[in-house]
Amino acid sequence: MILITGVSGFIGSSLAKKFLEQGYSVIGIDNFNSYYSIELKKYRTRIVGEFKEFYFEFADISNHNLLREIFKKYDITSIYHLASEVGVRHSIDHGDRYFTTNFLGTQNIINLVHEFNIKEVHFTSTSTVYEGNAIPFHEDMIIKNKLSNPYSQSKLLAEKEFENFCREQKCNVSVYRLFSVYGEYGRPDMFLFKLVTSLLRNQEITIYGDGNNLRDLTYIDDVIRALSLKKSTSGFQLYNIGAANPISINQLIEMCEKILQRKAKVNYTNHIHQEINQIWASHQKAKDIFSWQPHVPLEVGIQKTIQHIENHLAQDWY
Ligand SMILES: NC(=O)c1ccc[n+]([C@@H]2O[C@H](COP(=O)([O-])OP(=O)(O)OC[C@H]3O[C@@H](n4cnc5c(N)ncnc54)[C@H](O)[C@@H]3O)[C@@H](O)[C@H]2O)c1
Repeated sequence: MILITGVSGFIGSSLAKKFLEQGYSVIGIDNFNSYYSIELKKYRTRIVGEFKEFYFEFADISNHNLLREIFKKYDITSIYHLASEVGVRHSIDHGDRYFTTNFLGTQNIINLVHEFNIKEVHFTSTSTVYEGNAIPFHEDMIIKNKLSNPYSQSKLLAEKEFENFCREQKCNVSVYRLFSVYGEYGRPDMFLFKLVTSLLRNQEITIYGDGNNLRDLTYIDDVIRALSLKKSTSGFQLYNIGAANPISINQLIEMCEKILQRKAKVNYTNHIHQEINQIWASHQKAKDIFSWQPHVPLEVGIQKTIQHIENHLAQDWY
């Protein structure tokens, strides 16, 4: 049975659906945190809940005893650990929560992986750990010990915990550094969602900086394929999962304006110094090791996402 933590999230719910469609049994954990619409999280959970082989446990990964009961109850053979406090900007004023879930919660998972002798573990980290490096980012770059926001720092600490664990125990851990994932049922806190809803509602959108920041938007189906592909990797492995096709915020605004035939009302304000300016993946390693590369062109993915947002605009999610 596959355990997915953060199963009600954007990526976790899509991953669960993929495995369930392939005939696997999935046990999902989530605590429906209130960072963005709980209704959206419940909706995604209901979609995967339609599969007979889906089991759900409402649990907080920082609660070790509760997690242990779940590990005792189900025959878990592999883990996809996605549960996380997310959002760089939000983390700046809420650091404690980020360390509790992303670091201590991950330690709980690692302890249980050890206790229950689980041999296959996957963990989603973030491109923002590359802060201060030259673009494009590749996996053998040196990562700073001190990153400028609690989100990136807590994910980096979690990566290191997995690495230490792998060194001491015989376990296979794949860490995926994800790059701005977007698509249907995506996160309302992310820039693309704010941009599209502001265009559709004829509202102002705030840009932090001059809009020349680069982002490497990666479509959800490509990310799910990367996570779910069977890999014959052993020990600790890091992979960038990013499109390697960067676009500036201003270019993204132009693209959405063109698709929607509307003009954005842009309010440029100061850059937030804890955020990285330029994000750009090299995905050569994933290509070499498990033949992964993105299939969905940016414009196609953006059109699908816009269509989805238009269809769900009446919901309170976006
Ligand atoms: N979406 C992206 O662009 C992106 C980029 C880089 C990394 N990631 C990583 O991918 C993973 C999934 O991200 P996402 O975009 O789906 O985010 P998401 O917020 O949609 O999903 C995370 C889920 O974890 C749950 N959660 C949070 N704290 C928890 C806790 N203490 N116990 C149990 N559940 C908890 C949340 O309720 C949520 O449903 C995260 O690890 C994130 O750091 C995402």
